[in-house]
Amino acid sequence: VLAYSGGLDTSVAIRWLQEQYESSIATLTMDLGGKVDLEAARQRALRIGAERADVIDVRDEFIQEYVWPALQAGALYEGVYPLATALGRPLITKHLVRIAEKENAFAIAHGCTGKGNDQVRFDVSAAALAPKLQVIAPAREWHMTRDEEIAYAQQKNIPLDLNKRSSYSVDENLWGRSIEAGDLEDPWLAPPEEAYAWTVSADDAPDTASEIEIGFEHGIPVSVDGNRLDGVRLVELMNELAGAHGVGRIDHVENRLVGIKSRELYEAPAAVVLNMAHRSLESMCLTKEQSRFKDRLAAEYADMVYNGLWFSAHRINLDAYVVSTQRHVTGTVRVRLYKTSCTIVGRK
Ligand code: ARG
Repeated sequence: VLAYSGGLDTSVAIRWLQEQYESSIATLTMDLGGKVDLEAARQRALRIGAERADVIDVRDEFIQEYVWPALQAGALYEGVYPLATALGRPLITKHLVRIAEKENAFAIAHGCTGKGNDQVRFDVSAAALAPKLQVIAPAREWHMTRDEEIAYAQQKNIPLDLNKRSSYSVDENLWGRSIEAGDLEDPWLAPPEEAYAWTVSADDAPDTASEIEIGFEHGIPVSVDGNRLDGVRLVELMNELAGAHGVGRIDHVENRLVGIKSRELYEAPAAVVLNMAHRSLESMCLTKEQSRFKDRLAAEYADMVYNGLWFSAHRINLDAYVVSTQRHVTGTVRVRLYKTSCTIVGRK
């Protein structure tokens, strides 16, 4: 069962896995809010030769079961990264394992290379959920360059969509957009404007500020300007509103789990604003001791998520503490968005 995005690597992987492992392939494509064309991915997987191609919309599950707990915890890796990619991986793994069990599959597969954190998150999550299941990462084994992959695809008649070619490695979901590699690897280089897709620059941002009121119940955002919204819609709306003011750009030299430093860019308008607003509301609702302790817990929680330990006893225990702190975190926060800044101007 292969996690299938519809892109070059995982398209090549369908055929490569069939040949290397002499087995049939089921693909699984998930919508976490990353603007994937589910139906196109399904058709392509079948055309390449997958025996079964599932597509599922997991946006609501992602927000309710992964994003909101991380927001309540205040989880920001190294104080800045809201963990969009890191939160998505365990959810994807959970569904891969579910289909694998249904199909009696001997393995699940993902498209990660051997350089990043994502491979660890898949491998560790799978080991926690289904220790007997094998995890295969074709891109870690096949040693093909991008050009060799394209040649392989052409030789095998694999239909590709190479239009969206970008010099960056991008991962997107509702909680944020992660951008890495290419010329960004030089930490001295100012982020090029074309790396960004969800946010405008300060120069292009409007000259007038917007004020927005965000309502929370028990630490979970439930309304914007008095309108109750479901989680997916609320996050989408905050991404639009804050992105239009250039809020949510993060430029970070990050300590990866695999032991290297990496310069990464993120765009996470909703995550940045909601984390600030939530924290500000907590300053009204928590005691001094709770606030102090919760800051320490937030760093621990973020490390756990970043390191792929979502499905661990420790993370579940931390969540229990967090939930008990959120009983009275109910109220409204007013934020002001202006020229890349988000300022809390009121809370009640
Ligand atoms: N560095 C971030 C993380 O570890 C982002 C990873 C982005 N992944 C990608 N395939 N572009 O969570």
